[in-house]
Amino acid sequence: MRPTPRLSSQAPYPTTRFRRTRASAALRDLTQENRLSVKDLIWPIFVREGEGVEEPIPSMPGVNRLSVDRAVEAAKMAQGLGIPAICIFPYTGMEARTEDCALAWSPDNISNRAIRAIKAAVPELAIMTDIALDPYNINGHDGYVVGGEIVNDETVEALVKMAIAQADAGADILGPSDMMDGRIGAMRDALEAAGHRNVTILSYSAKYASAFYGPFRDAVGASAALAGGDKKTYQMNPGNSDEALRLVERDLSEGADMVMVKPGMPYLDMCRRVKDAFGVPTYAYQVSGEYAMIRGAGDNGWIDLEKAMMESLLAFKRAGCDGVLTYFAPAAARLLGGV
Ligand code: PBG
Repeated sequence: MRPTPRLSSQAPYPTTRFRRTRASAALRDLTQENRLSVKDLIWPIFVREGEGVEEPIPSMPGVNRLSVDRAVEAAKMAQGLGIPAICIFPYTGMEARTEDCALAWSPDNISNRAIRAIKAAVPELAIMTDIALDPYNINGHDGYVVGGEIVNDETVEALVKMAIAQADAGADILGPSDMMDGRIGAMRDALEAAGHRNVTILSYSAKYASAFYGPFRDAVGASAALAGGDKKTYQMNPGNSDEALRLVERDLSEGADMVMVKPGMPYLDMCRRVKDAFGVPTYAYQVSGEYAMIRGAGDNGWIDLEKAMMESLLAFKRAGCDGVLTYFAPAAARLLGGV
């Protein structure tokens, strides 16, 4: 149970008029409890083969798949806006996908090439990665499928190889998004053994089996591969809450430096519970479906896009998050004025 908040006793109206501190912009600023900063933002980007390519993603208006040269430009822009980190997701066509997912740990896959190129151009920008087999898997799952079952331990071995390849390429923050059991500890051991002592792990600890990932699966080419399948045997049941705390505790004990709740807005209660229970660096992922909803309604004139975007991001701070992964990162950074 959460402790009862310690609030000073309030004298009754009219001694206390809550509207006094709301009466002017200056007073509202002074009494604001939570604030969004550009330093809270992690910007997910999609990379693909080619040169000079910026390929729009229909279900995510305003978001493009970028070839490595364009991703470098995007990274420079992010750095210029004061955004501390980007997160790289690869788009792979069906022809690049195999059953053994060997491309996942190739030093020359599109993600690892993008990491190297961005590190060389903008070394101060932190680079986060995605660790899961779905971009490389013929069937679109985050783990190996053997006889219809997504097998855990064999998948963890592959994920560890992926983690090391990304760390070798220069990644600062590894993002295991696969929800297999035991992967954090296995990765941490392998990183230590390989001399990657300062590579951090931001674990997707409480990742729910969500319908809000739909546009992302289009973006990375996973929708067709998954062919209507779901990820319910490894991602969390949306009805569960206590289980998320057990997962976070487990990942921290295995060596995670930071933890994530995903999706974001429908799971703000989990952000608050995780932050209150552990007090560790806690992040939310405002996922593709959340972006598409806000952006789509904004583009149609049904809501004010900028205001709704900023309000949605501030909500993560209020819920206890230290930061948020969001496709709105550059737009929000511009409105925040860069500092
Ligand atoms: C896959 C992965 C997903 C997202 C990040 N990594 C989708 C999924 O689990 O199917 C979702 C991100 C988003 O929707 O913006 N490992």
